[in-house]
Amino acid sequence: MKIRVLTLFPEMIEPFFSSSIMKRAVKKGIVEYEIINFRDFANNAYNKVDDLPYGGGAGMVIMPDALSLALESIGAKGKRVIFPTPSGRLFTQQDAQRLKEEDELVFICGHYEGIDQRVIDEYVSDEFSIGDYVLTSGETASIVIIDAVFRLIDGVINKDSLSCESFNDKLLEYPQYTRSLRYCSNSVPDVLLSGNHAGITNWRDEMRLKKTMQFRPDMLSDASLSIKMRRKLINITDKEFLEDL
Ligand code: ADE
Repeated sequence: MKIRVLTLFPEMIEPFFSSSIMKRAVKKGIVEYEIINFRDFANNAYNKVDDLPYGGGAGMVIMPDALSLALESIGAKGKRVIFPTPSGRLFTQQDAQRLKEEDELVFICGHYEGIDQRVIDEYVSDEFSIGDYVLTSGETASIVIIDAVFRLIDGVINKDSLSCESFNDKLLEYPQYTRSLRYCSNSVPDVLLSGNHAGITNWRDEMRLKKTMQFRPDMLSDASLSIKMRRKLINITDKEFLEDL
């Protein structure tokens, strides 16, 4: 996959591509990347890329000129061009699954009050929000989306790690424990030390249901639960109901 990031702050993006798992994916040739400073395409005396919004209001808006020249230089028309913005559709794991199939992704990092709408109309295929909060820059949001996508590409991380993780079947992941056996006078749940694989699976399934009920009850209505898991859920809710009495 080739990932191109158009930004005014390349120094925010570069460390992501040259660290950790992404660094390895780049080294293996699974991911290629290019960081483009679209200020380099400004053709005015001060390399100015933003201006006051028409109609008034606070802040500055990124002008279409330099940004669209940068987009043209990479032949962005018709490609998957992603603009992270708090006013976009909420980005989900399903979007990450879809985007991992693309050969090329282009990200536009906005700043200030956003970018001129005409650039969005002309080039952008997806406007994604990464959550209901506002960040200072599109760079951090782009990194979040790139991270969620590239880790799903074959060969980036171990397939087993992907098979049982939060959101795959609309349930959150179970808690994990490792050495040492005792930490701050808390011990590891006995079942995990029992060697009883059925017991461990059962415990983990229960924990996934409990965690989802606690933190994301909204996800349960969408979850495609097996009959076994439904029974477990009913058991848990019955037990909690009785405990509350
Ligand atoms: N830019 C600023 N805030 C954002 C958000 N929540 N999601 C995506 N892009 C953003």
